[in-house]
Amino acid sequence: MTLQAAQNPSADSSKALYGGKGTRRITVHDIAAAKTRGEKWPMLTAYDAMTASVFDEAGIPVILVGDSMGNCHLGYDTTVPVTMDEMTLLSAAVVRGTRRALVVGDLPFGSYQEGPVQALRNATRLVKDAGVGAIKLEGGERSLPQTELLVQAGIPVMSHLGLTPQSVNTMGYRVQGRSDEAAHKLLRDAKAAQDAGAFAVVLELVPAELAAEVTRSLHIPTIGIGAGAGTDAQVLVWTDMAGLTGGKVPRFTKQYANLRETLGDAARAFAEDVGGGVFPAEEHTFH
Ligand code: KIV
Repeated sequence: MTLQAAQNPSADSSKALYGGKGTRRITVHDIAAAKTRGEKWPMLTAYDAMTASVFDEAGIPVILVGDSMGNCHLGYDTTVPVTMDEMTLLSAAVVRGTRRALVVGDLPFGSYQEGPVQALRNATRLVKDAGVGAIKLEGGERSLPQTELLVQAGIPVMSHLGLTPQSVNTMGYRVQGRSDEAAHKLLRDAKAAQDAGAFAVVLELVPAELAAEVTRSLHIPTIGIGAGAGTDAQVLVWTDMAGLTGGKVPRFTKQYANLRETLGDAARAFAEDVGGGVFPAEEHTFH
């Protein structure tokens, strides 16, 4: 029995986002129902079909094609250079690699800041050309007109508050919402996103107590990254989670594997086999 089932024995575990029996694609209605049930759920990023298929088969209910693809997949220093063409191409791959997960496409920097019409044009592209089930954009009050228009047009919106990496040039990478004023602003932003129709809110690099307060005050789920244990869901960048990222990873990340070492070992073993004439062997050879 899971901890959640033990805490709430009347909950129907067959409907659970993670570990449930459903095989159809998860929708934003399933996400809303999970908050009502008190289910905590996981979200991971993915940027290609094969990795996404692994997470989908593992039961991860929501996969974010994050603009973190800039740093983690495309070799940029930040998320800022990511383009709509790149986002559309990789989102389509993730959709093709999954059957059950709700795939959320990120609107990259410069694709929605001009205003709601630009946001609708680019979000529509992600829905129609890539097949995503929802989009994510950064900002609360500052992105309200965009959120409202997308929701009116039938596109589910995930909002992203706290540290918003597309604003790295003004914000830097530091914990947000530490002062009273900043905490009030974050609460206002979260409520504004909810009122505009967002179905979930990502809280990045926010003190745990504040993230828990935002979570209690919203009826839509919060998804934390570096925001403590009090949010409804948790998201990690997959290359951090699986230990593929090189160098230092953020303190809030937990590494569940060491893919960098495993892949490096595999590449070195292959190279040694080729150099030593051990590969290909007879069983890999046609006559
Ligand atoms: O782009 C991304 O991966 C994100 C997550 C860190 C939430 O926005």
